[in-house]
Amino acid sequence: MSVVITIDGPSGVGKGTLAQWLACKTGFHFLDSGAIYRSLAYGVMQAELDVNDIEPIIALAKTLPVEFKANSIIYEGVDITSKVRTEEVASIASQVAPIPEVRAALLERQQAFAQAPGLIADGRDMGTVVFPNAQLKLFLTASAEVRAERRVKQLKNQGNDANIARIIQDIRARDERDANRKTAPLKPADDAITIDTSDLNIDQVCQKAASLLNS
Ligand code: CDP
Repeated sequence: MSVVITIDGPSGVGKGTLAQWLACKTGFHFLDSGAIYRSLAYGVMQAELDVNDIEPIIALAKTLPVEFKANSIIYEGVDITSKVRTEEVASIASQVAPIPEVRAALLERQQAFAQAPGLIADGRDMGTVVFPNAQLKLFLTASAEVRAERRVKQLKNQGNDANIARIIQDIRARDERDANRKTAPLKPADDAITIDTSDLNIDQVCQKAASLLNS
């Protein structure tokens, strides 16, 4: 069995940056599980499915035509890497993610990323559901305001529009849905180490995670 390190936490907490940094440092594979849910959301939008009509969404999740190649997300042969980064896609992703059959359909696909020499898995339920036997489980937190500010910076860097008030509202709505859903609600695994990143910059978060990895 290869080594698995899980990084869970709410939206905009810096999981992705830390996960990619750790993947680079260790040479491990990287699973961005949110990108799988975002790809499903993209498929839902593309097929103009109603988020409340769950049967076709479950069917799509079972055969989701997405592939991860290098740093790109390819959906039916089309590069959708930047298309899945919009707030609209994120919002749909968080509406379809609570469907238990969707999560079940995507489980093995995520577990298949655990290959030698190891995996850094970024998401909401990596330590609790997908990789319960992971060797190191980190759970990142930060206030909604701090996370919204970080998201605004990120969106602007990607050339997207950003409205801070709207983003705080969206983050709170998503937190609420992620925490209160029945299937895999967002919470730290019992054996996870929680890092509050509100007052830490990304270098400090990375150094803290690296010291936990080496301890
Ligand atoms: O960037 P952000 O953390 O907002 O989102 P993401 O990690 O790309 O995930 C998009 C959405 O997918 C989240 O709002 C979650 O509702 C859902 N998700 C999930 O339910 N389980 C995961 N392991 C990853 C994402």
